[in-house]
Amino acid sequence: MQHTAGIKEVRVLLSAHNDKKIALVPTMGYLHEGHTALIEEAKKHADLVAVSIFVNPLQFGPQEDYDSYPRDLERDLNICREHGVDIVFHPEVNEMYPEEMEFNLGIKSMANILDGVKRPGHFEGVVTVVSKLFNIIQPDFAVFGEKDRQQLMIIERYVDNFNVPVEIIGVPTKREESGLAKSSRNVNLSESEFIEAGEINAALLNAAEQIKNGTVNTDKVMSFIRLHIEQKTSGTVDDLAIYTARALQFVENIDQDVIIFIAVQFKKARLIDNLYVSI
Ligand code: PAF
Repeated sequence: MQHTAGIKEVRVLLSAHNDKKIALVPTMGYLHEGHTALIEEAKKHADLVAVSIFVNPLQFGPQEDYDSYPRDLERDLNICREHGVDIVFHPEVNEMYPEEMEFNLGIKSMANILDGVKRPGHFEGVVTVVSKLFNIIQPDFAVFGEKDRQQLMIIERYVDNFNVPVEIIGVPTKREESGLAKSSRNVNLSESEFIEAGEINAALLNAAEQIKNGTVNTDKVMSFIRLHIEQKTSGTVDDLAIYTARALQFVENIDQDVIIFIAVQFKKARLIDNLYVSI
């Protein structure tokens, strides 16, 4: 496995593989099974797997956890090595943003909901860094987790809108036995929060069951989820919405496939999750 922090250097490494199909797994490091599932998926599609590790300051708000976001490059490199990654690109901030960006990528309605509202500028920051990574690595495929489903959908739309020649692959969320979605931020949960947080997935699964049993009123389903989280965890529901799976639109009564999105705030970690419910 080869690794570098330099843009020029990674281009040189990649130039030796012109004939190969490349899959990129963009990450912010502190890799866990969710990421290794992305790496394994990437291997199925391409001859060469590149992983990027970069905690992107542009996607964090001033009050968010940029500084406390967990980082451990040596550990990440070992995980990549163990999983047969070919090239790891792990730039520093100065390498990616040597000067303030003069341009920005604006997002319309898809960033007017959920984390686009809760975290102003977040998705613009994500799309900016993803766009830069696509230009640097020039992959044929890029693999993202469905845990960050709004992100995945925005990146899919970005690639469509700008005719970016990269095929986006989504990978189902990896979960702890309790159902808790694997996330780098889980290390910031206390022991008891880690256990309770399994209830996020349980609440969504119960809600899906209710929908399938005929409860179609969105407000009713959301109240049920809210109550479940309030009663069974010490976290607070920071965001909760049910949107149509195709257009991410609000529906009063659920009459088509929907996605339930949730964000729960614990003391030192804000966790997101979602569930696709097919009707
Ligand atoms: O999902 C993430 O880890 C990040 O948002 C991404 C896609 C690597 C961009 O920084």
